[in-house]
Amino acid sequence: MDDAALFLPRLLLGIAIVAAIAGAAPLDPQQLLALRALGLGAHPRADPCGGEGAAVNASCDAGAPFRRVTSLALTNCSGTTSVSAAALEALAPSLRALAFADCPAAPPRALPPEQLASGLRAFSCTASLRRLSAVWLSHLANLTELTVADTPLATGSPTELAVVVSHMEHLTRLTISNANLSGFLPHHWHCPNLTHLDLSGNRITGAIPDTLTLLGGITHLNLSSNVLNGAIPNSIGDLISLTTLDLSNNTLSGGIPDTVSTLPELEVLNLGSNRLNGSIPLFLAEMRGLRELNLENNDFDGMVPFTAKFLSRLRVFRAAGNGKLCYNRSVLSAEIAVGVAPCDKYGFPVLPPPATARSERSADYDDGGGDAETDAGADTRGGPSAAVLGAAIGLSCLAFLVILLVCLCKVCR
Ligand SMILES: *[C@@H]1O[C@H](CO)[C@@H](O)[C@H](O)[C@H]1NC(C)=O
Ligand SMILES: *[C@@H]1O[C@H](CO)[C@@H](O)[C@H](O)[C@H]1NC(C)=O
Ligand SMILES: *[C@@H]1O[C@H](CO)[C@@H](O)[C@H](O)[C@H]1NC(C)=O
Ligand SMILES: *[C@@H]1O[C@H](CO)[C@@H](O)[C@H](O)[C@H]1NC(C)=O
Ligand SMILES: *[C@@H]1O[C@H](CO)[C@@H](O)[C@H](O)[C@H]1NC(C)=O
Ligand SMILES: *[C@@H]1O[C@H](CO)[C@@H](O)[C@H](O)[C@H]1NC(C)=O
Ligand SMILES: *[C@@H]1O[C@H](CO)[C@@H](O)[C@H](O)[C@H]1NC(C)=O
Ligand SMILES: *[C@@H]1O[C@H](CO)[C@@H](O)[C@H](O)[C@H]1NC(C)=O
Ligand SMILES: *[C@@H]1O[C@H](CO)[C@@H](O)[C@H](O)[C@H]1NC(C)=O
Repeated sequence: MDDAALFLPRLLLGIAIVAAIAGAAPLDPQQLLALRALGLGAHPRADPCGGEGAAVNASCDAGAPFRRVTSLALTNCSGTTSVSAAALEALAPSLRALAFADCPAAPPRALPPEQLASGLRAFSCTASLRRLSAVWLSHLANLTELTVADTPLATGSPTELAVVVSHMEHLTRLTISNANLSGFLPHHWHCPNLTHLDLSGNRITGAIPDTLTLLGGITHLNLSSNVLNGAIPNSIGDLISLTTLDLSNNTLSGGIPDTVSTLPELEVLNLGSNRLNGSIPLFLAEMRGLRELNLENNDFDGMVPFTAKFLSRLRVFRAAGNGKLCYNRSVLSAEIAVGVAPCDKYGFPVLPPPATARSERSADYDDGGGDAETDAGADTRGGPSAAVLGAAIGLSCLAFLVILLVCLCKVCR
């Protein structure tokens, strides 16, 4: 009786000691099968939890009697792989992170199993799964990190983004980029801990809602390359933790709101390729942390208000492609204000007829070239000399022709 009662604990202790000596317990057999079904761990002896050199990119817990997969990354998998419901079911109890990269597998057809929906904390899909259903994603309610990039999200409803994120209140990082996402930005966000939001390269339309201010803790906001219109809302100034703001390549109009001056941490401001107008505000020069400033291809006018000292502190400064913008030649050089026309004495751009095309070209190809004016001068010098040469050649040909005719006439007579 005593012996029998002691047998099980002793056995378990034995297994634990063996496991400790061997380094680790074996993988849960159900999960091993699941990995095989996903086209992983084809090597029967390979330990998928083996860390470096393992056949599968996974990490496992230290469970006993069996270890279980906690994170799994499928990279560069074959096109015949498919993410079966049974495999997800087997992995669900322990899986916390799941990533696909360059993995053109067939996407899961059934909705995610209950345990996956509540257990998964990170999901990432980059150039994988051919397409992904917004509804499937929306069930992963406990995610803190979600990445969908270079993968079309099955589209339809104009409130699609809201559908995806409306239940994900724990999100800290959200990227849905180059995913053919359409519709509007949500008016309501329920993610108080969101710090990174990247929705770049989609087809999101409409204005940036005032309610953006609900994302109070955000540090990175990237809405570039969509079709957003309207003004940049004043409430942008409420996002006081912002370090990176990229609104480039949309159709935003109006001026840069004064409230931008209240973003103390801002390092990167990219407003390029929009329809913004008005003058460039001087307060930007007082933003101590600013490292990158891109205002190119807009409709800004007036004089660039910055000193050479301020601009030399920036890693990136771009302001080309603003037809009515100019810089003061006693303050800046063409080298610093690349692609911007110099001002005349009244503060308007000096624009010799072919100058726009030329200054753009010199911005692209001329690394350390001289003043835009010397360039323009060289151009005008080049113009007449070519014309003179052409005229001279034409005249000599004409003279030769006349002499030839005269000679011919003489011969004929
Ligand atoms: C394993 O996955 C991680 C991300 O989960 C990734 O950074 C790493 O490159 C992957 N390694 C291999 C060999 O695929
Ligand atoms: C992806 O797999 C193919 C063969 O299946 C291999 O030739 C290629 O080097 C792999 N690429 C990467 C980035 O691992
Ligand atoms: C999220 O995770 C917590 C703790 O792990 C759990 O209690 C909760 O039920 C999960 N939420 C959902 C919606 O699954
Ligand atoms: C936000 O983060 C804090 C601190 O990490 C945590 O206590 C809180 O539960 C989080 N809130 C949500 C909604 O996830
Ligand atoms: C993107 O969405 C549109 C409809 O909203 C659809 O016609 C198109 O096929 C989608 N593109 C891809 C690559 O899925
Ligand atoms: C925003 O996203 C685009 C496209 O995904 C990327 O090229 C750009 O570098 C991002 N901007 C910042 C500031 O990270
Ligand atoms: C700008 O956005 C359009 C789509 O709105 C895209 O086709 C184009 O590549 C983007 N340009 C850059 C430089 O990102
Ligand atoms: C900017 O453009 C809008 C029209 O889009 C116009 O109403 C406004 O007067 C312009 N502002 C300036 C300062 O030019
Ligand atoms: C350019 O700057 C100089 C020196 O700061 C100043 O005297 C001059 O008035 C400025 N030119 C214009 C057109 O504002």
